[in-house]
Amino acid sequence: MRVSIDGDRCQGHGRCFNLAPDVFGFDDLGNGVVLVESAEDERTIRLARLAQVNCPEHAISVDD
Ligand code: F3S
Repeated sequence: MRVSIDGDRCQGHGRCFNLAPDVFGFDDLGNGVVLVESAEDERTIRLARLAQVNCPEHAISVDD
């Protein structure tokens, strides 16, 4: 699994790092950043997908 955030779309809503603080953090502007760019464990994948579906800007990509 690979996780990424489209910096052009992210508006700093923060749902990613609130829902999945082990996978996402935030930068100086409060925009989301990816802390774990690739993982295979089920918990991380589930949290990444939870953040993906909750991002109002559809900025998060989770690819197999
Ligand atoms: Fe940005 Fe979406 Fe997270 S807007 S801060 S990637 S919830």
